[in-house]
Amino acid sequence: MKQIYSEKHRPQFHFSPKEKWMNDPNGMVYFNGEYHLFYQFHPFGITWGPMHWGHAVSKDLIHWEQLPIALYPDEHGAIFSGSAVVDWNNTTGFFENAPGLVAIYTSADNYPESDRPRQRQSLAYSSDNGRTWTKYEGNPVLSDVAITDYRDPKVFWHQETEKWVMVLATGQSVTIYTSTDLKEWKFASEFGNHAGSHDGVWECPDLFELPVNGDENNQKWVMFVSIGDNHEFKEGSRTQYFIGAFDGTTFHNENPDEKVLWLDYGRDNYAGVSWSDIPSKDGRRMYIGWMSNWRYANQVPTEGWRSAMTLPRELSLTASEIGVRVIQKVVSEINVIRNGSESYKDLTIESNQTKTFTMVSPLIEVNIAFEKQTSTSFGIVFQSSNDEKIGIRYDVEKELLLVDRTKAGENSFSESFSTVQEAPLKMENDRIKLQIIIDASSIEVFANDGKAALTSLIFPNRPYEQMALFSNEGSTLVSSLSLTELNS
Ligand code: FRU
Repeated sequence: MKQIYSEKHRPQFHFSPKEKWMNDPNGMVYFNGEYHLFYQFHPFGITWGPMHWGHAVSKDLIHWEQLPIALYPDEHGAIFSGSAVVDWNNTTGFFENAPGLVAIYTSADNYPESDRPRQRQSLAYSSDNGRTWTKYEGNPVLSDVAITDYRDPKVFWHQETEKWVMVLATGQSVTIYTSTDLKEWKFASEFGNHAGSHDGVWECPDLFELPVNGDENNQKWVMFVSIGDNHEFKEGSRTQYFIGAFDGTTFHNENPDEKVLWLDYGRDNYAGVSWSDIPSKDGRRMYIGWMSNWRYANQVPTEGWRSAMTLPRELSLTASEIGVRVIQKVVSEINVIRNGSESYKDLTIESNQTKTFTMVSPLIEVNIAFEKQTSTSFGIVFQSSNDEKIGIRYDVEKELLLVDRTKAGENSFSESFSTVQEAPLKMENDRIKLQIIIDASSIEVFANDGKAALTSLIFPNRPYEQMALFSNEGSTLVSSLSLTELNS
């Protein structure tokens, strides 16, 4: 197997910086045949520090080439999270001959002679496919000195009103602004003070439109809002979403009740936002998240580098009796790293027995369908020779999918890490389907075609070598199973 990196816990097919600290994904944009991924980067340490924008590009969303740092702190402060767009019509006047990229990000500093943080929005532009950037001389372009948390602009072009729209995290709400040139912004509306979870500060919003059940005549808008860590809640930082309508100025939340909708039920998918400017002939809405959690991100046991991104995922909407929900699937490009595969059909796991398989590789994708029989719970355990293991179990009565990482490997670095994560999940036609993707320090579980996702870091000291299927207090039928080796 080709390995790019050999360090312990280093992901082989998830993006991680060659060295030093990374947090949120930023400025994802597709332009001239390249997917850009910028990210919050601290080049002088493996803990959070003065923020820069790191940069990587990919042609297939799976293999990434790390490029030099794109944006350095300047007289307006550090470079916090934000977005990037293609200015196709030169609305900014930054580009003479051909369209270019504009980054819209938060400049973070302190008020002069005060310790209070100040967050303002700034622009930078590039005429050479993101390789070099010029900061706009009129920076910052948007500020509101009354608000301390005022950050993470996500900008998109709204065709119907022919305006740029910015969603900005503003404390416990998202404020929407509009502009015709990215330089001058007008307040449009504020959303969220009375909706969703307010367990932590609101961060990294996104807003985009998707068809419901693939029906182009029935579109709804999705708003992502990440919420920061708060020690009162065991989950740490996580991402919620809202479903509704958007008319160019105001977002109308259509969630039928006050129930919070979580994007991911694992602990490690934060600050995710979507790619801008995906060509309409492709048509996908794709996003990537930071695969960590502020609760322990600064302590995870890696040396020389810290943090990885999730696999890029395609988003869609499904409507059912419980309402409209986001579905996420790993992008189909994962095919480029699929290698040898073993398949099985119709295996019966007898009551309180296990069926064991030697794993074709520690880097693996498992696709499995469990059919309900008489068992009360069933699942899979991945295990290493030193008895470290990660367990995935479906509880039939409670209708819960659980991912137990309490014995998965190193976990002493934080009291909050050793967790059992759970997602509410109903059987469909008496069946639970799972797609499980394991890299050196992560497990991503997608259930029932992406209706639930659980993204979780793990730090095994030795690779998992064995997979055991189990069935408790009754039998379970595994109607199909495949184990596929993933190459880097
Ligand atoms: C989210 C976040 C953003 C901020 C950035 C700073 O993880 O706190 O709100 O812009 O990280 O690195």
